Amino acid sequence: MDAVRTRVAIVGAGPAGLLLSHLLARAGLDSIILDSRSREEIESTIRAGILEQGTVELLDEVSGSRARTVGSRHDGIELRFDGTGHRIDFAGLVGRGVWLYPQHEALKDLIAARLADGQDIRFGVTAHEAVDAESVSPAVLATTAEGGELVVRADFVVGADGSRSVVRQAVCGSHGGYFREYPFAWFGILCEAPPSADELIYSNSPDGFALISQRTPEVQRMYFQCEPDADAQAPSDAQIWDTLQRRVPGATLHEGAIFQRDVLRFRSFVARALTRGRMAIVGDAAHTVPPTGAKGMNLAVADVVLLAEALEALLVGGDASLLESFDERASARIWKAQHFSWWMTSMLHTAPDASDFDRRRQLGELRSVVESQAGSAYLAEAYTGWPL
Ligand code: PHB
Repeated sequence: MDAVRTRVAIVGAGPAGLLLSHLLARAGLDSIILDSRSREEIESTIRAGILEQGTVELLDEVSGSRARTVGSRHDGIELRFDGTGHRIDFAGLVGRGVWLYPQHEALKDLIAARLADGQDIRFGVTAHEAVDAESVSPAVLATTAEGGELVVRADFVVGADGSRSVVRQAVCGSHGGYFREYPFAWFGILCEAPPSADELIYSNSPDGFALISQRTPEVQRMYFQCEPDADAQAPSDAQIWDTLQRRVPGATLHEGAIFQRDVLRFRSFVARALTRGRMAIVGDAAHTVPPTGAKGMNLAVADVVLLAEALEALLVGGDASLLESFDERASARIWKAQHFSWWMTSMLHTAPDASDFDRRRQLGELRSVVESQAGSAYLAEAYTGWPL
């Protein structure tokens, strides 16, 4: 058995864990990051694509992010319903925008900058338990790629280990959290085609929702609402294009070879507690949002900003007050993002049991948003992100 010691043990080399380790290093705090996946796997897994302006500013500051060169700025989105597109002008409404920059590209930047700084990231190391939360020396018990046991003792343990977090178990025990399931999922594709529009299209149609997103000038990401247990391999390419075209009435999508398909589950979740003693959970370990509001990664970043300040105060300054209020302060934003993600989801998707009343009410809701400056400004404010 190997034993190592660090100031902060971080489980998970996703956006939350990597960013936290950057911010801690700036405060003079060493950390070790453990992740069960290989670097290649982390850097190639397709996840979210939209970064809030504040997220991009922070990534620029810590990791020389390529978001502004490889990614692209979007100053609005289109809400499409009843066969007509309506632009929500983020720049005009709130003077802010978002960046389309795939998460795995942001991860490449963060990992490269972390390793260049000589920081300790251990890939292929699977954490199986976090222990001693109530002591001043909590630890993570892990298994290395070679099958050896590793104990990482630290002054603080952070779970940034995603929705199947093992640290969450140590923080929340059997208390679990607040949970909501949705009666649909997203069928996602990547295809080789030029963009179908300048900006993302969020389309409500009588058949259900579709989102026309992008990746690069040559590769596009698109989604359509499907059954929660849909099989990603079942439909033919022609059926997928037929569904997508029907779901975006009044527009014609550029079609191309589909080279990846997946089904994304829809869940809302918030853990009942974010800290216990000298342990905390952040990002997907602490909460899950449905993807409609593009909040997942941005919310992880916001958690980490608050936690990094709290850990600096505790471990450098000996002041526990920011850690004591972390849960309450992080939760305020988490629940706003939960509401926004739920709202975008419910406003745009067709529930399987929707009545004619529900359907007409939904169109009334969409009109209330696009025809009202206040309604559009709320959407723009939430989508581009509240101040960090
Ligand atoms: C994506 O491009 O993957 C994406 C964009 C916007 C969303 C969700 C996903 O709301």
